[in-house]
Amino acid sequence: MLIGIDKMNFFTPNTYIDLVKLAEHRGIDPNKFTVGIGQSKMAVPTITQDTVSMGANAALPILDATDLGKIDLIVVGTETGIDESKSSAAFIHQLLNIHPFAKSVEVKQACYGATAGLMMAKDFITTHPGRKALVIASDISRYGLATSGEVTQGAGAVAMLISENPRILELEDVSVSMTESIFDFWRPNYTDTAIVNGKFSNEAYVNFFSTIWEEFSKRTSYSLADFNAFCFHLPYSKMGKKALLPALENESEDVQKRLMSHYDLSTTYTKNIGNIYTGSLYLSLMSLLDSDENSLKSGDLIGFFSYGSGAVGEIFSGRLVEDYDKHLLKEAHQDMLNNRYDLSIEEYETIFTKELPKTDGTHPLSEAKYDKSHFYLSSITDHQRHYNERQ
Ligand code: CAA
Repeated sequence: MLIGIDKMNFFTPNTYIDLVKLAEHRGIDPNKFTVGIGQSKMAVPTITQDTVSMGANAALPILDATDLGKIDLIVVGTETGIDESKSSAAFIHQLLNIHPFAKSVEVKQACYGATAGLMMAKDFITTHPGRKALVIASDISRYGLATSGEVTQGAGAVAMLISENPRILELEDVSVSMTESIFDFWRPNYTDTAIVNGKFSNEAYVNFFSTIWEEFSKRTSYSLADFNAFCFHLPYSKMGKKALLPALENESEDVQKRLMSHYDLSTTYTKNIGNIYTGSLYLSLMSLLDSDENSLKSGDLIGFFSYGSGAVGEIFSGRLVEDYDKHLLKEAHQDMLNNRYDLSIEEYETIFTKELPKTDGTHPLSEAKYDKSHFYLSSITDHQRHYNERQ
Protein backbone atom coordinates (compact mmCIF):
# COMPACT_ATOMS: atom_id res chain seq x y z
CA MET A 1 0.00 0.00 0.00
CA LEU A 2 1.35 3.48 -0.89
CA ILE A 3 1.04 5.86 2.07
CA GLY A 4 2.27 9.42 2.51
CA ILE A 5 1.51 13.13 2.48
CA ASP A 6 -1.72 13.85 0.65
CA LYS A 7 -2.02 17.55 1.53
CA MET A 8 0.18 19.95 3.48
CA ASN A 9 0.23 23.56 4.65
CA PHE A 10 1.99 25.81 7.13
CA PHE A 11 1.00 28.78 9.25
CA THR A 12 3.14 31.49 10.80
CA PRO A 13 1.94 34.46 12.89
CA ASN A 14 1.61 37.70 10.95
CA THR A 15 4.12 39.64 13.06
CA TYR A 16 7.89 39.45 12.60
CA ILE A 17 11.10 41.26 13.48
CA ASP A 18 13.66 42.11 10.82
CA LEU A 19 16.99 40.63 11.90
CA VAL A 20 19.17 43.43 10.49
CA LYS A 21 17.20 45.84 12.68
CA LEU A 22 17.61 43.49 15.66
CA ALA A 23 21.38 43.05 15.07
CA GLU A 24 21.90 46.83 14.90
CA HIS A 25 19.91 47.32 18.09
CA ARG A 26 21.98 44.66 19.88
CA GLY A 27 25.26 46.16 18.58
CA ILE A 28 26.06 43.05 16.51
CA ASP A 29 27.32 43.06 12.89
CA PRO A 30 24.14 42.25 10.85
CA ASN A 31 26.21 39.90 8.65
CA LYS A 32 26.53 37.57 11.62
CA PHE A 33 22.75 37.08 11.56
CA THR A 34 22.12 37.17 7.80
CA VAL A 35 25.29 35.39 6.58
CA GLY A 36 26.85 33.65 9.59
CA ILE A 37 23.56 32.22 10.89
CA GLY A 38 21.67 32.72 7.61
CA GLN A 39 18.44 34.26 8.90
CA SER A 40 16.57 37.37 7.64
CA LYS A 41 13.28 37.62 9.53
CA MET A 42 11.88 36.00 12.65
CA ALA A 43 8.22 35.32 13.47
CA VAL A 44 7.16 36.78 16.82
CA PRO A 45 3.76 35.56 18.04
CA THR A 46 1.43 37.70 20.14
CA ILE A 47 -0.03 36.03 23.25
CA THR A 48 -3.16 35.28 21.20
CA GLN A 49 -1.27 32.71 19.12
CA ASP A 50 -0.26 29.46 20.79
CA THR A 51 0.40 25.84 19.83
CA VAL A 52 -3.33 25.13 19.48
CA SER A 53 -4.35 28.17 17.43
CA MET A 54 -1.31 27.91 15.13
CA GLY A 55 -1.91 24.19 14.56
CA ALA A 56 -5.59 24.75 13.75
CA ASN A 57 -4.69 27.68 11.46
CA ALA A 58 -2.25 25.45 9.55
CA ALA A 59 -4.77 22.61 9.13
CA LEU A 60 -7.96 24.54 8.30
CA PRO A 61 -7.16 25.41 4.63
CA ILE A 62 -6.34 21.81 3.63
CA LEU A 63 -9.34 19.95 5.07
CA ASP A 64 -12.64 19.42 3.28
CA ALA A 65 -15.85 17.80 4.56
CA THR A 66 -14.75 14.32 3.38
CA ASP A 67 -11.46 14.62 5.27
CA LEU A 68 -13.25 15.71 8.46
CA GLY A 69 -15.32 12.53 8.32
CA LYS A 70 -12.33 10.25 7.65
CA ILE A 71 -9.65 11.51 10.04
CA ASP A 72 -9.46 8.89 12.80
CA LEU A 73 -6.13 9.99 14.28
CA ILE A 74 -4.84 13.47 15.16
CA VAL A 75 -1.27 13.70 16.38
CA VAL A 76 0.27 17.00 17.41
CA GLY A 77 4.05 17.04 17.74
CA THR A 78 5.13 19.88 20.01
CA GLU A 79 7.63 20.78 22.70
CA THR A 80 5.72 23.94 23.61
CA GLY A 81 2.38 22.44 24.60
CA ILE A 82 -0.07 24.57 26.59
CA ASP A 83 -1.13 22.05 29.21
CA GLU A 84 0.73 19.28 31.04
CA SER A 85 -2.34 17.05 30.86
CA LYS A 86 -4.84 17.88 28.11
CA SER A 87 -3.38 17.51 24.63
CA SER A 88 -3.38 20.33 22.08
CA ALA A 89 -4.77 17.71 19.66
CA ALA A 90 -8.02 17.53 21.68
CA PHE A 91 -8.48 21.32 21.35
CA ILE A 92 -7.65 21.19 17.63
CA HIS A 93 -10.05 18.29 17.06
CA GLN A 94 -12.85 20.54 18.31
CA LEU A 95 -11.77 23.70 16.48
CA LEU A 96 -11.64 21.85 13.16
CA ASN A 97 -14.93 19.97 13.67
CA ILE A 98 -13.49 16.51 13.12
CA HIS A 99 -15.97 13.66 13.69
CA PRO A 100 -16.19 12.46 17.33
CA PHE A 101 -14.84 8.91 16.90
CA ALA A 102 -11.23 9.99 16.38
CA LYS A 103 -8.27 9.72 18.75
CA SER A 104 -6.25 12.82 19.57
CA VAL A 105 -2.81 12.81 21.17
CA GLU A 106 0.23 15.01 21.65
CA VAL A 107 3.76 13.67 21.14
CA LYS A 108 6.93 15.20 22.58
CA GLN A 109 10.59 14.70 21.79
CA ALA A 110 11.89 18.19 21.06
CA CYS A 111 12.00 18.89 17.30
CA TYR A 112 11.54 15.18 16.49
CA GLY A 113 7.90 14.99 17.74
CA ALA A 114 6.17 15.50 14.38
CA THR A 115 8.31 12.81 12.74
CA ALA A 116 7.19 10.37 15.45
CA GLY A 117 3.64 11.49 14.59
CA LEU A 118 4.21 10.97 10.87
CA MET A 119 5.54 7.44 11.39
CA MET A 120 2.65 6.67 13.76
CA ALA A 121 0.20 7.94 11.12
CA LYS A 122 1.83 5.79 8.41
CA ASP A 123 1.49 2.68 10.58
CA PHE A 124 -2.11 3.64 11.44
CA ILE A 125 -3.12 3.93 7.78
CA THR A 126 -1.45 0.57 7.05
CA THR A 127 -3.89 -1.09 9.44
CA HIS A 128 -6.85 1.21 8.63
CA PRO A 129 -6.90 1.50 4.83
CA GLY A 130 -9.22 4.17 3.48
CA ARG A 131 -9.04 6.24 6.65
CA LYS A 132 -6.88 9.38 7.21
CA ALA A 133 -4.58 10.83 9.86
CA LEU A 134 -3.82 14.47 10.59
CA VAL A 135 -0.28 15.21 11.74
CA ILE A 136 0.38 18.70 13.09
CA ALA A 137 3.67 20.20 14.21
CA SER A 138 3.29 23.41 16.20
CA ASP A 139 5.82 25.32 18.30
CA ILE A 140 7.04 28.68 19.58
CA SER A 141 10.82 28.79 19.85
CA ARG A 142 12.06 30.99 22.70
CA TYR A 143 15.55 31.48 24.14
CA GLY A 144 15.14 34.99 25.56
CA LEU A 145 15.96 38.58 24.65
CA ALA A 146 19.63 39.35 23.99
CA THR A 147 20.73 35.71 24.34
CA SER A 148 22.95 33.99 21.75
CA GLY A 149 19.95 31.89 20.72
CA GLU A 150 17.71 34.96 20.21
CA VAL A 151 18.34 35.09 16.46
CA THR A 152 17.28 31.44 16.11
CA GLN A 153 13.79 31.85 17.59
CA GLY A 154 10.57 31.71 15.55
CA ALA A 155 7.01 30.36 15.57
CA GLY A 156 4.72 28.39 13.32
CA ALA A 157 2.90 25.20 12.56
CA VAL A 158 2.71 22.61 9.79
CA ALA A 159 -0.28 20.38 9.04
CA MET A 160 -0.06 17.19 6.97
CA LEU A 161 -2.92 14.95 5.92
CA ILE A 162 -1.66 11.36 5.71
CA SER A 163 -3.49 8.85 3.55
CA GLU A 164 -3.33 5.96 1.11
CA ASN A 165 -2.48 6.93 -2.47
CA PRO A 166 -1.19 10.36 -1.41
CA ARG A 167 -1.03 13.21 -3.90
CA ILE A 168 2.27 14.84 -2.84
CA LEU A 169 4.81 12.37 -1.38
CA GLU A 170 4.87 8.58 -0.94
CA LEU A 171 6.88 7.51 2.09
CA GLU A 172 9.29 4.61 1.63
CA ASP A 173 9.37 1.86 4.26
CA VAL A 174 12.98 1.86 5.49
CA SER A 175 13.96 4.48 8.02
CA VAL A 176 16.68 4.56 10.67
CA SER A 177 16.28 6.25 14.07
CA MET A 178 18.80 6.86 16.83
CA THR A 179 18.49 7.89 20.49
CA GLU A 180 21.16 9.16 22.87
CA SER A 181 20.33 10.96 26.13
CA ILE A 182 22.32 14.22 26.06
CA PHE A 183 21.90 17.82 27.23
CA ASP A 184 22.39 19.89 24.11
CA PHE A 185 19.08 21.75 24.43
CA TRP A 186 16.28 21.28 26.96
CA ARG A 187 13.55 23.19 28.82
CA PRO A 188 12.60 22.29 32.40
CA ASN A 189 8.85 22.60 33.17
CA TYR A 190 9.37 25.76 35.23
CA THR A 191 10.73 27.93 32.42
CA ASP A 192 9.33 29.12 29.10
CA THR A 193 12.74 29.70 27.52
CA ALA A 194 15.01 26.89 26.37
CA ILE A 195 18.43 26.20 27.88
CA VAL A 196 21.00 25.45 25.22
CA ASN A 197 24.61 24.45 24.89
CA GLY A 198 24.86 26.04 21.43
CA LYS A 199 28.17 24.66 20.15
CA PHE A 200 27.48 21.18 21.53
CA SER A 201 23.99 21.20 19.96
CA ASN A 202 25.53 21.91 16.55
CA GLU A 203 28.04 19.08 17.02
CA ALA A 204 25.35 16.66 18.22
CA TYR A 205 23.20 17.46 15.15
CA VAL A 206 26.09 16.82 12.74
CA ASN A 207 27.14 13.61 14.55
CA PHE A 208 23.58 12.28 14.54
CA PHE A 209 23.30 12.92 10.81
CA SER A 210 26.59 11.21 9.91
CA THR A 211 25.98 8.20 12.18
CA ILE A 212 22.39 7.64 11.04
CA TRP A 213 23.27 8.26 7.38
CA GLU A 214 25.97 5.56 7.51
CA GLU A 215 23.45 3.03 8.87
CA PHE A 216 20.67 4.17 6.52
CA SER A 217 22.85 3.87 3.43
CA LYS A 218 23.97 0.41 4.60
CA ARG A 219 20.38 -0.80 5.09
CA THR A 220 18.98 0.72 1.88
CA SER A 221 22.09 0.62 -0.35
CA TYR A 222 21.25 4.22 -1.25
CA SER A 223 24.08 6.70 -1.80
CA LEU A 224 23.57 10.46 -1.86
CA ALA A 225 23.69 10.21 -5.67
CA ASP A 226 20.30 8.43 -5.58
CA PHE A 227 18.63 11.50 -4.07
CA ASN A 228 17.30 14.52 -5.93
CA ALA A 229 17.05 16.54 -2.74
CA PHE A 230 17.66 16.17 1.01
CA CYS A 231 15.54 18.12 3.51
CA PHE A 232 16.81 18.88 7.00
CA HIS A 233 15.48 19.99 10.34
CA LEU A 234 16.52 23.65 10.14
CA PRO A 235 16.90 25.46 13.49
CA TYR A 236 18.51 28.13 11.28
CA SER A 237 19.15 28.01 7.58
CA LYS A 238 22.87 27.15 7.76
CA MET A 239 22.56 24.17 10.12
CA GLY A 240 21.68 21.43 7.60
CA LYS A 241 24.58 22.46 5.37
CA LYS A 242 27.04 21.74 8.19
CA ALA A 243 25.80 18.12 8.14
CA LEU A 244 25.39 17.72 4.38
CA LEU A 245 28.68 19.17 3.11
CA PRO A 246 31.01 16.58 4.74
CA ALA A 247 28.78 13.74 3.45
CA LEU A 248 29.03 15.15 -0.10
CA GLU A 249 32.82 15.30 -0.17
CA ASN A 250 33.27 12.10 -2.22
CA GLU A 251 30.30 12.66 -4.54
CA SER A 252 30.56 13.93 -8.14
CA GLU A 253 30.32 17.63 -8.93
CA ASP A 254 26.85 17.05 -10.46
CA VAL A 255 25.50 15.41 -7.29
CA GLN A 256 27.01 18.13 -5.09
CA LYS A 257 25.47 20.83 -7.28
CA ARG A 258 22.04 19.19 -7.37
CA LEU A 259 21.80 18.58 -3.63
CA MET A 260 23.21 21.97 -2.66
CA SER A 261 20.95 23.93 -5.02
CA HIS A 262 17.92 22.06 -3.68
CA TYR A 263 19.19 22.59 -0.13
CA ASP A 264 19.21 26.35 -0.79
CA LEU A 265 15.59 26.23 -2.02
CA SER A 266 14.59 24.31 1.10
CA THR A 267 15.83 27.10 3.38
CA THR A 268 13.82 30.06 2.01
CA TYR A 269 10.87 29.78 4.41
CA THR A 270 13.08 29.15 7.47
CA LYS A 271 15.16 32.24 6.65
CA ASN A 272 11.97 34.30 6.82
CA ILE A 273 10.25 32.64 9.78
CA GLY A 274 12.95 31.20 12.05
CA ASN A 275 12.97 27.95 13.97
CA ILE A 276 9.53 26.39 14.30
CA TYR A 277 11.07 23.39 16.10
CA THR A 278 9.24 20.19 15.19
CA GLY A 279 7.62 21.61 12.03
CA SER A 280 10.90 22.87 10.66
CA LEU A 281 11.80 19.75 8.61
CA TYR A 282 8.39 19.84 6.92
CA LEU A 283 8.61 23.60 6.37
CA SER A 284 11.85 22.91 4.50
CA LEU A 285 10.02 20.39 2.27
CA MET A 286 7.32 22.98 1.46
CA SER A 287 9.99 25.61 0.81
CA LEU A 288 11.74 23.25 -1.63
CA LEU A 289 8.59 22.24 -3.49
CA ASP A 290 7.10 25.75 -3.62
CA SER A 291 10.36 27.38 -4.80
CA ASP A 292 11.47 24.75 -7.31
CA GLU A 293 11.02 25.64 -10.96
CA ASN A 294 10.80 22.34 -12.83
CA SER A 295 14.05 20.73 -11.64
CA LEU A 296 12.05 18.18 -9.59
CA LYS A 297 9.64 15.67 -11.12
CA SER A 298 7.41 12.80 -10.08
CA GLY A 299 9.31 9.74 -8.91
CA ASP A 300 12.21 11.84 -7.58
CA LEU A 301 13.66 10.58 -4.30
CA ILE A 302 13.82 13.02 -1.38
CA GLY A 303 15.73 12.30 1.83
CA PHE A 304 14.74 13.65 5.26
CA PHE A 305 16.81 14.23 8.39
CA SER A 306 14.75 14.80 11.52
CA TYR A 307 16.59 15.88 14.70
CA GLY A 308 15.16 16.56 18.14
CA SER A 309 17.59 17.63 20.84
CA GLY A 310 17.98 15.49 23.86
CA ALA A 311 18.31 13.61 21.40
CA VAL A 312 16.47 11.54 18.81
CA GLY A 313 17.15 11.59 15.07
CA GLU A 314 15.76 9.76 12.06
CA ILE A 315 16.51 9.54 8.37
CA PHE A 316 13.77 8.43 6.00
CA SER A 317 12.86 8.93 2.35
CA GLY A 318 9.92 9.55 0.05
CA ARG A 319 9.12 9.87 -3.65
CA LEU A 320 7.26 12.71 -5.32
CA VAL A 321 3.94 11.66 -6.79
CA GLU A 322 2.71 12.46 -10.32
CA ASP A 323 1.28 16.00 -10.54
CA TYR A 324 2.37 16.70 -6.93
CA ASP A 325 2.91 20.35 -7.88
CA LYS A 326 -0.84 20.79 -8.55
CA HIS A 327 -1.50 20.17 -4.84
CA LEU A 328 0.85 22.78 -3.37
CA LEU A 329 -0.38 26.04 -1.82
CA LYS A 330 2.45 28.22 -3.15
CA GLU A 331 0.44 31.40 -3.65
CA ALA A 332 -1.26 31.24 -0.25
CA HIS A 333 2.18 30.74 1.35
CA GLN A 334 3.61 33.75 -0.49
CA ASP A 335 0.61 35.89 0.50
CA MET A 336 0.97 34.89 4.14
CA LEU A 337 4.67 35.85 4.18
CA ASN A 338 4.18 39.06 2.19
CA ASN A 339 1.34 40.37 4.35
CA ARG A 340 3.01 40.34 7.74
CA TYR A 341 3.51 43.26 10.13
CA ASP A 342 7.11 44.46 10.54
CA LEU A 343 7.54 45.08 14.30
CA SER A 344 9.67 47.84 15.76
CA ILE A 345 12.20 46.80 18.42
CA GLU A 346 9.96 48.25 21.13
CA GLU A 347 6.92 46.35 19.84
CA TYR A 348 8.96 43.13 19.59
CA GLU A 349 10.25 43.36 23.15
CA THR A 350 6.80 44.27 24.51
CA ILE A 351 5.11 41.38 22.71
CA PHE A 352 7.89 38.97 23.70
CA THR A 353 7.66 39.76 27.41
CA LYS A 354 3.84 39.73 27.70
CA GLU A 355 2.57 36.88 29.86
CA LEU A 356 -0.77 35.12 29.98
CA PRO A 357 -2.87 35.67 33.13
CA LYS A 358 -2.44 32.93 35.72
CA THR A 359 -5.22 33.85 38.18
CA ASP A 360 -8.88 32.80 38.62
CA GLY A 361 -11.59 34.72 36.79
CA THR A 362 -12.23 35.80 33.22
CA HIS A 363 -9.41 37.37 31.24
CA PRO A 364 -10.33 38.50 27.72
CA LEU A 365 -7.30 38.78 25.42
CA SER A 366 -6.99 41.07 22.46
CA GLU A 367 -4.12 41.79 20.09
CA ALA A 368 -6.36 42.87 17.21
CA LYS A 369 -3.82 45.43 15.98
CA TYR A 370 -1.35 42.64 15.23
CA ASP A 371 -3.08 39.27 15.11
CA LYS A 372 -5.27 38.83 12.02
CA SER A 373 -5.31 35.03 12.07
CA HIS A 374 -8.44 32.93 11.67
CA PHE A 375 -8.17 31.06 15.00
CA TYR A 376 -6.86 32.93 18.03
CA LEU A 377 -6.81 32.61 21.80
CA SER A 378 -9.59 34.96 22.90
CA SER A 379 -9.75 34.50 26.67
CA ILE A 380 -8.66 32.52 29.67
CA THR A 381 -11.55 31.82 32.02
CA ASP A 382 -10.85 30.02 35.28
CA HIS A 383 -7.64 28.62 33.77
CA GLN A 384 -9.41 27.29 30.65
CA ARG A 385 -8.21 28.48 27.25
CA HIS A 386 -10.94 29.63 24.85
CA TYR A 387 -10.43 30.21 21.15
CA ASN A 388 -12.38 32.29 18.64
CA GLU A 389 -12.69 32.21 14.87
CA ARG A 390 -12.34 35.52 13.05
CA GLN A 391 -15.16 35.78 10.49
N1 CAA B 1 29.85 38.05 9.46
C1 CAA B 1 29.61 36.82 8.94
N2 CAA B 1 29.61 35.69 9.69
C2 CAA B 1 29.80 35.82 11.01
C3 CAA B 1 30.06 37.07 11.63
C4 CAA B 1 30.08 38.23 10.78
N3 CAA B 1 30.29 39.45 11.27
N4 CAA B 1 30.21 36.87 12.94
C5 CAA B 1 30.07 35.53 13.18
N5 CAA B 1 29.82 34.91 12.00
C6 CAA B 1 29.59 33.48 11.79
C7 CAA B 1 30.50 32.59 12.62
O1 CAA B 1 31.74 32.39 11.98
C8 CAA B 1 29.67 31.32 12.69
O2 CAA B 1 29.77 30.62 11.45
P1 CAA B 1 29.96 29.04 11.44
O3 CAA B 1 28.80 28.47 12.20
O4 CAA B 1 29.95 28.68 10.01
O5 CAA B 1 31.24 28.75 12.16
C9 CAA B 1 28.22 31.85 12.76
O6 CAA B 1 28.29 33.21 12.28
C10 CAA B 1 27.66 31.87 14.17
O7 CAA B 1 28.56 32.54 14.99
P2 CAA B 1 28.87 32.03 16.47
O8 CAA B 1 29.14 30.56 16.45
O9 CAA B 1 29.88 32.92 17.08
O10 CAA B 1 27.42 32.31 17.08
P3 CAA B 1 26.91 32.16 18.54
O11 CAA B 1 27.95 31.65 19.45
O12 CAA B 1 26.30 33.46 18.88
O13 CAA B 1 25.76 31.04 18.46
C11 CAA B 1 24.22 29.41 17.78
C12 CAA B 1 25.16 30.51 17.30
C13 CAA B 1 25.00 28.31 18.49
C14 CAA B 1 23.48 28.82 16.57
C15 CAA B 1 23.17 30.05 18.76
O14 CAA B 1 22.37 30.97 18.07
C16 CAA B 1 22.29 29.04 19.46
O15 CAA B 1 22.65 28.49 20.49
N6 CAA B 1 21.08 28.74 18.89
C17 CAA B 1 20.14 27.77 19.47
C18 CAA B 1 20.62 26.34 19.36
C19 CAA B 1 20.53 25.76 17.98
O16 CAA B 1 19.80 26.22 17.12
N7 CAA B 1 21.28 24.67 17.76
C20 CAA B 1 21.22 23.95 16.50
C21 CAA B 1 21.37 22.47 16.68
S1 CAA B 1 20.22 21.84 17.88
C22 CAA B 1 18.76 21.60 17.02
O17 CAA B 1 18.76 21.57 15.82
C23 CAA B 1 17.47 21.48 17.77
C24 CAA B 1 16.78 22.79 17.80
O18 CAA B 1 15.96 23.08 16.94
C25 CAA B 1 17.13 23.74 18.85
